[in-house]
Amino acid sequence: MSDDQTAILDRYGVIGYPVAQSRSPFIHRLFADQTDQAMTYELIEAPEDKLDTIVRHFQRNGGRGLNVTVPHKTAITRLVDELSEEASIAGAVNTLELKSDRIVGHNTDGLGLVRDLTHHWQYDVGGKRILLLGAGGAAQGIVAPLLELEPEQLVIANRSIGKADALANHFGTLGAVRAIRFSDIRESDDPYDLIINATSIGLTDEKMPFPHIAITPRHSDCYDLGYGLSETPFMRWAATHDAARIRSGWGMLIEQAAESFRIWRGVTPDTKDVIKRLPIN
Ligand code: ATR
Repeated sequence: MSDDQTAILDRYGVIGYPVAQSRSPFIHRLFADQTDQAMTYELIEAPEDKLDTIVRHFQRNGGRGLNVTVPHKTAITRLVDELSEEASIAGAVNTLELKSDRIVGHNTDGLGLVRDLTHHWQYDVGGKRILLLGAGGAAQGIVAPLLELEPEQLVIANRSIGKADALANHFGTLGAVRAIRFSDIRESDDPYDLIINATSIGLTDEKMPFPHIAITPRHSDCYDLGYGLSETPFMRWAATHDAARIRSGWGMLIEQAAESFRIWRGVTPDTKDVIKRLPIN
């Protein structure tokens, strides 16, 4: 649709690079139908150097809100005038509220993950040993909400140790958290109860760079923040190494989307109805 055609309806979208893989348009369309909201939701591809121009153009042309995905969740913070408490703690933004005079940045990823883990997967994070793979924008948004659930320890493993260190230092006051390299994962470590993939690797690669000894067979549960129409590469890797329970990021995607939708439209969609229609694992 051209800017002229869409000007009558409030416009929303997801901005990222790449973005074609995103299922957010499908989910927000279901939410809009379910709650009778007159709105459009678009896929917006934006390389890093065009991010500011594209967001401002969208805001001037009926854009009321954006979801922000890889790799812009931290870079976008420089564009916002105001941060919600969650976004401020995370230092990352996944939802923009585009007002006529300013841009407010929110982060609904943490809430989305916690709701999916606790409500839909019946998972109790309290007292568990958690291995978080990745230290980018997606990881950043979920560290504080996970620590609030009081795991025994949260270990952040990343290819670049500097980013993992920075996250562990930033959130160190909120709970037991430490940073390691993938190669520091040892068979002799106490078993990880839950392994969360927050890297963007499944988008481009099949081969997982993590040592499989991270998984204690039939004990470790594996959760991928990524999702697909079939199993993700991380889920296949987890199954190959005999993980206990395995789940994709569909539930989190729907829950974070529902919270974005509530922020934008003031109504909370029924997520159970949407989850029923999707290939949730
Ligand atoms: P997002 O918003 O999805 O977190 P991001 O901020 O670009 O996107 O972060 C991508 C994450 O995936 C990072 O943890 C990155 O590791 P580095 O910090 O070392 O770059 C991780 N990642 C991406 N491709 C990877 C690969 N081939 N091997 C290991 N880690 C990878």
